[in-house]
Amino acid sequence: MVNGSQQGLDLCARLLLDPGERVILENPCYALARQAFLAAGAEPIPRTVDAQGMRTDGLPAARLAFVTPSHQFPLGSVMSVSRRRELLAWARRNRAYIVEDDYDGEYRFDIRPIPPMQTLDDAERVIYLGTVSKTLSPTLRLGYLVVPEALRAAFGNAKRLMDRHTSTLEQDALASLITDGVYERHVRRIRRKNGARRTALLDALSKTLGDSVTIAGADAGLHAVIWLNHIPRKREGELLARANAAGIGIYPISPLYDARFGQPDRVGLIMGYAALDERSIAHGVRTMAGIIGELETRGTRKRGRFSPSP
Ligand SMILES: Cc1ncc(COP(=O)(O)O)c(C=O)c1O
Repeated sequence: MVNGSQQGLDLCARLLLDPGERVILENPCYALARQAFLAAGAEPIPRTVDAQGMRTDGLPAARLAFVTPSHQFPLGSVMSVSRRRELLAWARRNRAYIVEDDYDGEYRFDIRPIPPMQTLDDAERVIYLGTVSKTLSPTLRLGYLVVPEALRAAFGNAKRLMDRHTSTLEQDALASLITDGVYERHVRRIRRKNGARRTALLDALSKTLGDSVTIAGADAGLHAVIWLNHIPRKREGELLARANAAGIGIYPISPLYDARFGQPDRVGLIMGYAALDERSIAHGVRTMAGIIGELETRGTRKRGRFSPSP
């Protein structure tokens, strides 16, 4: 057990990467993963993400690849089985490791489950990272790593040096929830609840924003992405300021891209729905639709001007 996925990421960065070694990262990428790898002195190699997850063709040699295959963070794509296999073959060839961050894998909607990469790995190359942050609470700081046998002692020793162990009180409480079947029932219940929130979000978006937005990444996890089809990214700051003034916290995707390789030309927003009830979701989307409509009508609406979503 580790103190949330974050400690697991930090352990991977410290133990598996020497300064100057290359790490393959999704682009855009979860900022706290990128920062952990950069802090270890690694050289990031960003790879484009599309509707099937991170692209795995022509991957250069590297020591490590970090991926979120169940629901790419932030774009929300689910990595196809063929890409999972291609990435595993790359790791085997290069004697590289794959860090599989399965941060919200409990949530899938209308799609068939794809097994984690860790279960497809017959060469001991995958480090699987799980967390209860999306099922119980991110304040608990409880996560877990499944590491190949060859790395077990090194990870165990490093964890002991860091903080001896993750609080046994919380570990014992979680263990009894699991053995009593309470955890599984809880996950089933919140999956239903979050499914209803997701439906509320998708309904509100299609009713109020129609073709002003393209929705992506809603098949799994607890957030979807919307691309604002008629608002160029240079107006992102204005949009955020207006949303904040209206009491809505919105999270743009642009800072998660590796700035060396450019950013999308449209505004993309991460729409997390797990913390809101259905009414607040509908209300928030209506407010956003008003703001987006105003920005669009103030002279920027030129269809066909932007390239497709990255
Ligand atoms: C990609 C990704 N990984 C992991 C986590 C969870 O991190 P932790 O377990 O440290 O709370 C999140 C939380 O938002 C996330 O977005």
